[in-house]
Amino acid sequence: MKTIFEKSVPGRRAVWFEPAREAAPADAVPEGRRRRTPPRLPELAEVDILRHYVAMSQRNYSIASGPYPLGSCTMKYNPVVNEAVAALPGFASLHPRQPAATVQGALRLMVELEAALCEITGMDAFTLQPAAGAQGELTGMLIVRAYHRARGEGGQRTQVLVPDSAHGTNPATAAMAGFEVVAVPSDRRGNVDVAALRARASERTAGLMLTNPNTLGVFDDGIEEIAAIVHEAGGLVYYDGANLNPILGVARPGDMGFDLVHLNLHKTFSTPHGGGGPGAGPVGVKDFLRPYLPGPRPVRLAAREGQEEYGLEPPSESSIGRVRSFYGNFLVLVRAYAYILAQGGEGLRRVAEDAVLAANYLAHELGPDYPLAYDRRPMHEFVVSTAALKRETGVRALDLAKGMCDEGVHPPTVYFPLTVEEAMMVEPTETEAVENLDRLAAAFRRVAEIARTDPERLRTAPHRTPAARLDEARATRHPDLRYRPGLSLPERDPQAAPAGAAAPPA
Ligand SMILES: Cc1ncc(COP(=O)(O)O)c(C=O)c1O
Repeated sequence: MKTIFEKSVPGRRAVWFEPAREAAPADAVPEGRRRRTPPRLPELAEVDILRHYVAMSQRNYSIASGPYPLGSCTMKYNPVVNEAVAALPGFASLHPRQPAATVQGALRLMVELEAALCEITGMDAFTLQPAAGAQGELTGMLIVRAYHRARGEGGQRTQVLVPDSAHGTNPATAAMAGFEVVAVPSDRRGNVDVAALRARASERTAGLMLTNPNTLGVFDDGIEEIAAIVHEAGGLVYYDGANLNPILGVARPGDMGFDLVHLNLHKTFSTPHGGGGPGAGPVGVKDFLRPYLPGPRPVRLAAREGQEEYGLEPPSESSIGRVRSFYGNFLVLVRAYAYILAQGGEGLRRVAEDAVLAANYLAHELGPDYPLAYDRRPMHEFVVSTAALKRETGVRALDLAKGMCDEGVHPPTVYFPLTVEEAMMVEPTETEAVENLDRLAAAFRRVAEIARTDPERLRTAPHRTPAARLDEARATRHPDLRYRPGLSLPERDPQAAPAGAAAPPA
């Protein structure tokens, strides 16, 4: 596909303007600031521009294209009405430096969102500042550090315990906050190995980072004992709330014994994500950690003349300080608020129940080539191992995933968690109807069949996508994103016979 510059035709225009009636005064733009040459812009008709961008968007796979069961990412459909709400000029045109008196509605929204998140998680206070899950984790770890320092134990409590099934951001964050990471193995059921945890918890423990359901998609039913072990050792228990979707309205981290949590609003509460787009990772704490929260925080002031008044509370002396400019990614907060109000308590619970139902249905429908890594009823996502299929056919989980692109659906996450051989992690989400789950299951079964009949076709897949298989390691280690004329992707015939038709890795 050509770039828009390559499609440019000199003199072609989308809009013709009348020549200006009055000449601009000669000094309207100071001499030194005037262009010597006109800007280099593509010249196209409006319809060509429209077709160009529509064609580009069609080369992408998104939730608008079909099912997107990317485990650990909660790629659910986000209601478009929440986009419309976030685009309202009263929200979208605000300036963060406006006086509080002129942004009472925005402050009220943040105060009410904080209250809703407290209710949903069982926490006492939240900061809405962090802009992503990982930044929420860092905020949490800085709070853990500040808490131990304030108690005179900062020098002693240097270790953070992290289960071996944890999301990679957990150990990375703990290390970034200056802690030593101590891995805790999982037991045979995929839970935290309680005996191993007990052996590692000590007076050096600053805290434990855990998500429940964990990254194997199973609910750790030993959670109260786990929290008690860490608390008895003097540590804090941190909840990675990126997996909140399946427990919404059903269980609360605050009731499970967690002291602090972060949430991924962009996973659970209606913000499309992927490609590094804006997110929000609010951090909630129990009351005793409130003084360490970043600030300033939006608060409800005393009602004046019968009218509620909202303002900004400066950070306390013990605060870890700001973690982001102003008050966070405000429009992501608006979407979350609108979503929570639209769902209501009952609706949120239904989200969780449907997410779990969809995952269990799909896990059942995949068939014998995709056995669960842990033979337990999964929650919102599940992990299968394709190691047996690999031994039989030589086809890897990666090849199966690439083959699914040719079946017209997005593949699941592969090779995560690291503890499962040839792992595939599948999260269908609550927004896929049963026909779509059936379509997904059929795609899984079909690639398993191709692995037996035509393994080469999978090793060279995908064949029907605009780009062939990339050398992902090279693309990550040596990104070269410069535009070079003539290096556009070759046009691929979506109907072409697949076998052996792949272009060499880019
Ligand atoms: C369990 C878990 N923790 C943390 C994160 C990190 O969140 P973010 O990508 O917003 O930094 C994710 C991301 O999806 C996750 O699944």
